[in-house]
Amino acid sequence: MIKVAPSILSADFSKLGAEIERVVAAGADYIHIDVMDGTFVPNITLGSPVVKAIRKCTKATFDVHLMVEHPETQVKSFAEAGADIITFHVEAAKHPHRLIQEIHAAGCRAGIAIDPGTSLASIEELVQDVDMVLVMTVNPGFGGQEFIASTLDKIHMLAHEIADFGYDCPIEVDGGINPETTALVTSAGASILVAGSYIFGADDAKAAIDALREAEEEHDCGEEHEG
Ligand code: DX5
Ligand code: ZN
Repeated sequence: MIKVAPSILSADFSKLGAEIERVVAAGADYIHIDVMDGTFVPNITLGSPVVKAIRKCTKATFDVHLMVEHPETQVKSFAEAGADIITFHVEAAKHPHRLIQEIHAAGCRAGIAIDPGTSLASIEELVQDVDMVLVMTVNPGFGGQEFIASTLDKIHMLAHEIADFGYDCPIEVDGGINPETTALVTSAGASILVAGSYIFGADDAKAAIDALREAEEEHDCGEEHEG
């Protein structure tokens, strides 16, 4: 079963609480929270005080995606604000293994993210220790970008590695996710789908989330028929 994580980057920030309640009611599994610092990526979005405020709206899993330099400085405040999963970029971390330990010590699940231009080799020693790998399917920094198809091979290779070693580590994808790309990424091995503009841009969030789930199910059926 896939999980769907609407990215609030594409929500209406003037009514963020109501927007989160809307997608939770529509069947969201996680709320994906994009934290940008204006340095690692050009934009600045939100910090831990906002996470603390929206924590009051829902019990849904908060999936915090740190697109920041020095992510080690942010773990404590986001954990205290109510993050459930804290994901950082391997490109931004000096001591990524220590950071995973710190995220766990703060009581959160740890995720590691890699950009489209970053090789799987950069996380090879870390996969066994994280609770999730986030394979970016666009370059981080903006919503509404086009899916980068060359990331599919990476998802596929990573899924094989995880299966071969028996790690308990789902693959999350983020960027350009819609029903068409869902079929591609889920067949490559991803099981957590972040979608911003596709869900928040739809008039009916439930129909959008259902369409993502159906795209995955159709791919599943297809595989069964092949066998
Ligand atoms: C991009 C963010 C994404 C973004 C995805 O840097 O990490 O979470 O919101 O947006 P869409 O789904 O519109 O590509
Ligand atoms: Zn994200």
